[in-house]
Amino acid sequence: MENYSVLDKVRKQYNPKLPGCLSGNISGIGYDAVEKGEENPESGKLKQLLPVTFGKKYVKITNKNTSRENKPLSVGVVLSGGQAPGGHNVIAGLFDSLNKINPKSTLTGFLGGPSGILDNKAVAITKELIDKYRNTGGFDLIGSGRTKIETEEQFEKSLQVCRERKLDALVIIGGDDSNTNAALLAEFFASKKESISVIGVPKTIDGDLKCDLIEASFGFDTAVKTYSELIGNIERDSKSAGKYWHFIKLMGRSASHIALECALQTRPNWTVISEEVQKKSQSLESIINEIASVIVNRSKNNENYGVVLIPEGLIEFIPEVGSLIKEINKLLGDNEQQFASLLTFEKQSEWLTKNLSGISSKVFASLPKNIQEQLLMDRDPHGNVQVSKIETEKLVILMVEKRLKELKADGTYKGKFSSQNHFFGYEGRCAFPSNFDADYCYSLGFIATVLISERLTGYMTSITGLSKPVSEWVPGGVPISMLMTMEERKGKMKPVIKKALVELEGTPFKTFAAKRDEWALKTSYIYPGAIQYFGPDEVCNAPTITLMLEKGK
Ligand code: FBP
Repeated sequence: MENYSVLDKVRKQYNPKLPGCLSGNISGIGYDAVEKGEENPESGKLKQLLPVTFGKKYVKITNKNTSRENKPLSVGVVLSGGQAPGGHNVIAGLFDSLNKINPKSTLTGFLGGPSGILDNKAVAITKELIDKYRNTGGFDLIGSGRTKIETEEQFEKSLQVCRERKLDALVIIGGDDSNTNAALLAEFFASKKESISVIGVPKTIDGDLKCDLIEASFGFDTAVKTYSELIGNIERDSKSAGKYWHFIKLMGRSASHIALECALQTRPNWTVISEEVQKKSQSLESIINEIASVIVNRSKNNENYGVVLIPEGLIEFIPEVGSLIKEINKLLGDNEQQFASLLTFEKQSEWLTKNLSGISSKVFASLPKNIQEQLLMDRDPHGNVQVSKIETEKLVILMVEKRLKELKADGTYKGKFSSQNHFFGYEGRCAFPSNFDADYCYSLGFIATVLISERLTGYMTSITGLSKPVSEWVPGGVPISMLMTMEERKGKMKPVIKKALVELEGTPFKTFAAKRDEWALKTSYIYPGAIQYFGPDEVCNAPTITLMLEKGK
């Protein structure tokens, strides 16, 4: 018996495409520093917190056609946070480009996420090892974790480990929080006059780490295509059987990029977009009424079935629940020990009810017990509520059911309602990367090497022009501090990378909003099918609809 699936074996032979200027001899490559973006409104505070690294310019990587000798580089790499398809290809790109620069270069993979740096647990990445992981999903090559490197002591320990290992650079592959840490670590190293570069790579299926210069985080493309395949299958099942309403919660943390892209790809009957809920200050009741009215209207055509998409972060955007969560976060942050001593849910909820404001206390009491319990579960190391553990889809079903009963009682609704709930998240995080993610990630690995060899620090790898063919992609580096702002975390103001939420004025949302009423009433499902790795360009190399619409295509 073989240990690999056929696709696994064949996929390892795929040669990722590289942008023009990275595909030849990269030892003569260089960069141009370019003034980009507007003045950061928080620049005063950020300059104080990041005095050495703040205020640098975007760099555009260009082939300078010089032939210079590069000394071998010793680089450490770490995967941080949730899995995202393509992580292994970033490491493969790093490995191959370091080798191209100088075959004596070395790559060390810290194990199990940032804690691997603190515990100095690492493995040498060799050709034999990396060849087993090329173009595969998952982070299992070196593992990942959510430990946050934030204290002075942890910074010191990281520096000591990097020094001991004689590293020229540390590459942190992570989302907004991990890249925030990368920026702080870069500042710390630089303030100690250390020449060890810290480079970030934009990873997250959530798609919320983006701006003009970071057009997409890696993993988003594969994850949304995987979920869209599943949603399309469910739509077809729902239409075939004609008897279920499917409520599907989709991962994505706070932002609704995943839900929006999946809606554009599959045209379900209703999709809630958290950012719109917040903008309209929509209450939970009004969201439920909206969904119930779609169900009622479809039942008039004898269509007692349908599909509703719910972004996983919705609960935080409903104004009354959002305020409740903020209050809980602050209370838990300020009273960590006291709260830990309350061992039953009853005691926790009693303590909370006493300490919450009157309004929040009422909102808390109005929620079903399972949701109350889920709101009190441990925060992640960055202080975020773990929205993937909150069963919002079940809450919505419960409330819709109640509303439909009321409508039935007053004669407005005569249909049948039977529901199924789903949560798609983990299914998409370790899929074989699409060609887009395989190419993108491999290129990001190359860019990291170029930034390191140019002795840049506090930069994030970037590619612009992602909606064009790979040969036209423009590689570069963005100072991470350019993306930062000040936000409240665990009740205190901290420098963080600003999360990119769905823009309600953006073309992707507007395109969806123009069509949603039609999709609500008239079954308009589209079935995207599985990701294709081989075949015509339009089926195996197309970027997401979001990216194309954002770029005016
Ligand atoms: P990152 O932001 O670290 O990339 O993680 C994304 C994510 O998949 C979210 O969509 C989800 O809410 C969260 O991770 C789940 O976390 P965990 O893997 O710890 O359950």
